[in-house]
Amino acid sequence: MIKRFTWGRPVETEAVVKREAGERKLSEVPYFSQVQTGDGRVSVLTYHMGEHDIIYGLGENIRGINKRGWVYESNCVDDPIHTEARRNLYASHNFFLVDGRERFGVFVDAPQKVTFDIGYTDRDRLAVTVDAGGFDLYILEGDSLRQMVREFRQIIGRSYIPPKWGFGYGQSRWGYENEDDIRQVVKRHRDNGVPLDSVYMDIDYMERFKDFTVDEEKFPKFPRFVEEMRAQNIHLVPIIDAGVKIEKGYSVYEEGVENGYFCKKEDGSEFVGGVWPGRCHFPDMLNDDARKWFGRKYKLLLDQGIDGFWNDMNEPALFYGEDYLTKAFEKLDEYRKQELNLHTFFGMKNLVLGLSNRKEDYESFYHEYKWERIRHDKVHNLYGYYMTRSAGEAFDELEPDKRILMFSRASYVGMHRYGGVWTGDNSSWWSHILMNLQMLPGLNMCGFLYTGADLGGFGCDTTEDLLLRWLELGIFTPLMRNHSAKGTREQEFYRFGHVEDFRGIIGLRYALVPYLYSEFVKAAMRDDMMFLPLAFVYPKDQEAAVVEDQLMVGESVMIAPVYRQNARGRYVYLPEDMKLYRFRSSEDVDIEVLRAGHHYVKAELNEVLVFVRPNHVVPLAGGGCCVADVDMSRLRLLHFVTDQAEYELYDDDGYGKKIDLESGITKVRVTVDGKVDAEGALEAEWTLF
Ligand code: GLC
Repeated sequence: MIKRFTWGRPVETEAVVKREAGERKLSEVPYFSQVQTGDGRVSVLTYHMGEHDIIYGLGENIRGINKRGWVYESNCVDDPIHTEARRNLYASHNFFLVDGRERFGVFVDAPQKVTFDIGYTDRDRLAVTVDAGGFDLYILEGDSLRQMVREFRQIIGRSYIPPKWGFGYGQSRWGYENEDDIRQVVKRHRDNGVPLDSVYMDIDYMERFKDFTVDEEKFPKFPRFVEEMRAQNIHLVPIIDAGVKIEKGYSVYEEGVENGYFCKKEDGSEFVGGVWPGRCHFPDMLNDDARKWFGRKYKLLLDQGIDGFWNDMNEPALFYGEDYLTKAFEKLDEYRKQELNLHTFFGMKNLVLGLSNRKEDYESFYHEYKWERIRHDKVHNLYGYYMTRSAGEAFDELEPDKRILMFSRASYVGMHRYGGVWTGDNSSWWSHILMNLQMLPGLNMCGFLYTGADLGGFGCDTTEDLLLRWLELGIFTPLMRNHSAKGTREQEFYRFGHVEDFRGIIGLRYALVPYLYSEFVKAAMRDDMMFLPLAFVYPKDQEAAVVEDQLMVGESVMIAPVYRQNARGRYVYLPEDMKLYRFRSSEDVDIEVLRAGHHYVKAELNEVLVFVRPNHVVPLAGGGCCVADVDMSRLRLLHFVTDQAEYELYDDDGYGKKIDLESGITKVRVTVDGKVDAEGALEAEWTLF
């Protein structure tokens, strides 16, 4: 059951698509013992947590699956240093569940800054603080955690479903400069028998970092190159940034100014901020006309054969706001004349370090949203959502019959209907493998099913063992992309010695594509999660409730990746008996049944642990060099049948937008004596693994 409580006049975010009529007053809200509201001030809602209450959610943010013990902010920001000390990342996902003495869910629909103090100030207190302005508060009640998530997902609308090739492996690096760099990447994968479906094009493909342009010197005949890649089953996926370069004669800039599509300051002139291209204007993504206009620009690349994009810098990131930069230079001139001592040196340093993503800059420009002029900071967290919405709406119009790959860096609940997310500029740190895992359930709770991290780490230098271990988690995430920053150590698999290990692990991903795709589409269509904390599946198990480094993946599998340097195994908790498949490749595996309880499980650097639940099966295909090559005609079943197992395998053409779950499902039954029978759409030969 969901009830909405309203304070003031909230900005309509369009996070929720099914909204019951009638609204309740916030003063009537249950659970929260104290509600302080203020229109011009912040509002604070306080809940007293029981000693062992667990708080799930908040989507893309730092720290554990259980969010208790820290303070988090929803305030989309471009900051690449994701340490435990942070409070906010690129996204704003204001949904959480309380599980303990009482069980309920909370969604704070507010596009301004929101703070969640979950036992930070006081170990037992949960306080939600909403910055000045109105908001809607949704309170959910339900029989189980999973059921509450489903109900929430029903009101926020169906999750984005990517084309099937988006489940293939993608290689990316900020620094592939031209056609030949990309050809090399593809060739090295193909020559070594390591599957690959996509190569990402970072900002270097553009002409002076201008959106929707392609540098003709680096890519002289772009459509032909796109075709050449397609002939090898490779999809090129270009990046699109939020900032539009200010440059005379550049059509996107000219049209934007002419039609008033860019965000403006108080005096009516366009706001200027610096990002990769230098001085930029920012399309008013919240304005219907501007959004439509920006979305149609993707056509320039669709027309050249492109069928996937990643939207970046859409918090929106600001290296500097021009007005403040001018003042900062004046101040620097003053510093130049002074001796740099304790005060002046650090004053100068902080001035320069404080240029980016300044609060005051976000308070200096406006949007035209639903016939109202709204200052940016009041709707800050919607910008990335509306940029991706602009693309998503345009794709529906331009490509009504074809799914286009789309994922974004910044997001808000609601954007999950238009695209996925990648989790931004992480680092090549062991702790970030675990962070990647811990974010997945929270993201799924908010509808972000198509998601993944930069495998191997974006910032800093990776190592072969770190990359292998990270891939061993990454083979389960729908978006599986190796991406790294310019200036860091190159991290394509072929930069390292043990090609066979990479071939084995990435090959296993392709064997798992039928299962992963099936679980993904079913989760999307049934408003369910694909990655679940153990407690969502074993709610009565006290020990499962505190597991922070294992996940359920779909209905049949549990994963427990190794994420520590030099570890040759790890402790795993099994809530019930399970069958462990220890894979070195999709062909090379050893199998054992483990009893419920705690185990130390060995996993060498090249080994992936897949735990299969009792009376469940997992279809495994023969691999291929790309998703299109995955052989669906012969499927082998990982199985742990003590009684009888039934599995619904969903499959489709991988492109079509009209998805009919029922007609795409094949039901496979396995009996305890090993008999397999299947009925449904898929004609395949089934064998037990
Ligand atoms: C941002 C993105 C990163 C990209 C870089 C250059 O930092 O998060 O993925 O490589 O910009 O475009």
